[in-house]
Amino acid sequence: MEDRPQTEDYAKFDPEWYLDNYIGTEEASINMRLDLNIYHRFFSQNPIRGKRLLDVGTGPSIHTVISASNHVDEIFLSDYTSQNRQYLEKWRSGKIDHPKMMIDYVSSLDGRTVTAEEREKEIRQKVKGIVPIDVTSQQPLGSDYDGAPFDIIVTSYCFEAAVSNVAEYKSCIENVSTLLKKGGYLVLAACLEGGLYQVGEYNYRTINISRKQIDSAMAETGYKTIAAEEIQGTAVDAQLQDFSSYYFIVGSKC
Ligand SMILES: C[S@@+](CC[C@H](N)C(=O)[O-])C[C@H]1O[C@@H](n2cnc3c(N)ncnc32)[C@H](O)[C@@H]1O
Repeated sequence: MEDRPQTEDYAKFDPEWYLDNYIGTEEASINMRLDLNIYHRFFSQNPIRGKRLLDVGTGPSIHTVISASNHVDEIFLSDYTSQNRQYLEKWRSGKIDHPKMMIDYVSSLDGRTVTAEEREKEIRQKVKGIVPIDVTSQQPLGSDYDGAPFDIIVTSYCFEAAVSNVAEYKSCIENVSTLLKKGGYLVLAACLEGGLYQVGEYNYRTINISRKQIDSAMAETGYKTIAAEEIQGTAVDAQLQDFSSYYFIVGSKC
């Protein structure tokens, strides 16, 4: 990774650069497909079902809820930064489409014969809110949140970007767990043993966390693991970030 100014300031986060480089290109789709394969397996091979799903730290990309959308009635997206939420609102109103190759790819995994347009419309209709969130707060959705619990929470590459150490990472799990029903599912994706990822002209800092530390944090915060997978980063990936691998875990809240 090239030397660039380092930052933790999400006010500088550029949604379009992030999408163009991590999600939308043919090159990026090599990595994305690995993530999408795992979401597909998690949701098709486990009883992860429910009425309401919250995606935490969605960023500008809805890839984390494509497979999940088959298994829930309502989806809420959330992010810390207003520019990511605005981007998601543009997507919801149809001004921007998610990369079609990705939606088609998930539909083929799911065995669905719908067109990308139909599938995207279905997902848009299920999205009932795009809300601000701060995972470092004990009230992540703020004091106005009505307290209605979620059946499923999905979060991808967010906590490690929001905190400075492993103890705070564990607190993020505790904080979002206040939003989850007992018996509900937390689907968590994390970058392991890294420190930096590029967005535009900045390198964003993340904490260095291991699979073992995440397993312990999940167990200590009251989750029973029902599925877990780890994948290695690819060469494409190494140009943009310095993580050793990516970890995906599903816990059910005891
Ligand atoms: C690496 S991006 C991941 C985006 C997306 N979930 C994905 O998998 O591509 C990290 C995301 O965490 C969000 N974030 C940073 N600090 C946060 C906080 N304190 N609370 C909630 N989200 C935060 C950022 O705005 C950004 O969208």
